[in-house]
Amino acid sequence: MSISAQDQNRERFDAIAAGWDDNPTRRELATGVAEAIAAAVPLQADWQALEYGCGTGLVGAALAPKLAGLLACDVSPGMLAVLEQKARAAGLDHLHTRVLDLTHMPPPTEHFELIFSSMTMHHIPDVAALVRTFHGMLKPGGWLALADLDAEDGSFHGSDVQGVMHKGFDRDALQADLRAAGFADTSARTAHTVAKAAADGRLSHYPVFLITARA
Ligand SMILES: C[S@@+](CC[C@H](N)C(=O)[O-])C[C@H]1O[C@@H](n2cnc3c(N)ncnc32)[C@H](O)[C@@H]1O
Repeated sequence: MSISAQDQNRERFDAIAAGWDDNPTRRELATGVAEAIAAAVPLQADWQALEYGCGTGLVGAALAPKLAGLLACDVSPGMLAVLEQKARAAGLDHLHTRVLDLTHMPPPTEHFELIFSSMTMHHIPDVAALVRTFHGMLKPGGWLALADLDAEDGSFHGSDVQGVMHKGFDRDALQADLRAAGFADTSARTAHTVAKAAADGRLSHYPVFLITARA
């Protein structure tokens, strides 16, 4: 029996959760994305936000102090357990975690001023469907902020990594998906560029975009 994409991702990320934050390339990327979101979105101290595919919270924990509440969601209980521990140690009592896979589960009943996500869209088979779901989870005028890889040749992950559904994204095509879902004011900028050895060992540079839009 074949294993589903969400099962592949849950198992893979559960297995690597404990060491996720040890990688400086990941920490630098998350810092770049958090700074880009803070620069592009007028974060307010009374906002309720949701992070989708939060992992261990490298982005969310940086933004949480600027928000009234953050619901940090992920398909991997292992990644969320690492975040829970960090959030409690940091006194981020308004940050809560939830196992959520919007490709197979209904959206939360709450509505949000902001939904953000970093490096998760490439794991989602039907991104157009997911952004329609995000639109329904936002309050009118609420913000969506999506960061992920620009289109690449597949060398970022290499061919043996399971659960990767997209070799990055075309910024214009993704913004068109957002507009089709009902979003307005879409805009894109480069949040960070990852420099790392590709699967074949060569040093490569992978730009990461941040696309913002309003419901
Ligand atoms: C590359 S990691 C990025 C984690 C975090 N955003 C960061 O920047 O460090 C991708 C995350 O997406 C999560 N993920 C993958 N598929 C998912 C899905 N269908 N629903 C929710 N989370 C998912 C994984 O468990 C993982 O934590």
